[in-house]
Amino acid sequence: MTTVKTLRELRAAIAQARAEGKQIGFVPTMGNLHAGHVSLVEIAAQRADFVVASIFVNPLQFGAGEDLDKYPRTLAADREKLLAAGCHLLFHPDVEEIYPHGMGDQTRVSVPGVSEGLCGASRPGHFEGVATVVTKLFNMVQPDLAVFGEKDYQQLAVIRALVQDLNMPIQIIGAPTQRAEDGLALSSRNGYLSAEQRAVAPALYRGLQAVAEALRRGARDYQRLIEQAQAQQQAAGFVPDYLEIRNAVNLRPAQVDDRHLVILTAAHLGNTRLIDNLVVEPASQ
Ligand code: PAF
Repeated sequence: MTTVKTLRELRAAIAQARAEGKQIGFVPTMGNLHAGHVSLVEIAAQRADFVVASIFVNPLQFGAGEDLDKYPRTLAADREKLLAAGCHLLFHPDVEEIYPHGMGDQTRVSVPGVSEGLCGASRPGHFEGVATVVTKLFNMVQPDLAVFGEKDYQQLAVIRALVQDLNMPIQIIGAPTQRAEDGLALSSRNGYLSAEQRAVAPALYRGLQAVAEALRRGARDYQRLIEQAQAQQQAAGFVPDYLEIRNAVNLRPAQVDDRHLVILTAAHLGNTRLIDNLVVEPASQ
């Protein structure tokens, strides 16, 4: 696996792979990799001949007071994991390589609709930062396909929308959420949890499972289910941010006759904000 830091080196390596007739798969990350990221790289390696990963902690998607400065930088360990998962080329640029003229005058990409509400409401500007950097990375790498985790369900919807709306010839593949044995969705931010908080954290997923089970049994009073689940989050020690039931395809608020639903939640445990989601097919009426 080769590591490059500049766009020039990246383009040269990709041009060579293209000249050899290789299909390019891409996995953008912010590093501090765990088994969830590894699964994304493995999927890319199954579907493409040449796998590019990026590690770039994108300042544009962090709000004031968020964890940009303390976000773990673990390059040596990340390189080992990428290599073992089948990555061929790592792009690890500095901020100046991605935003050479600073971020103030940077052209932005905003995706209306799916980026509104949920994390879009709690983290103003976050999805504009994600859509902008992903657009730039897509233009730099020009992959045939790119893999993103379903754990960031709204982010995946934003990226699918931007690729479609901007006519990018890139196949977007969603990869299932990887979970610890106790159900906690793997996330780089789990590392912020104390031992005590880590023991509480799986309650977030258990709450989603309880709502999913009620929907499968035919419950349709969404508001009541949400209130019960958030009360359980509070009792477990979370400070709920949101818990919503949405149409799994277009992320619009769920209607009683929707066949594919997704339950999405974000909640704080101490200073750590955790998110999770669960797709469910409710009982037919
Ligand atoms: O999911 C992430 O790690 C980031 O939001 C992404 C897609 C790499 C963009 O910075």
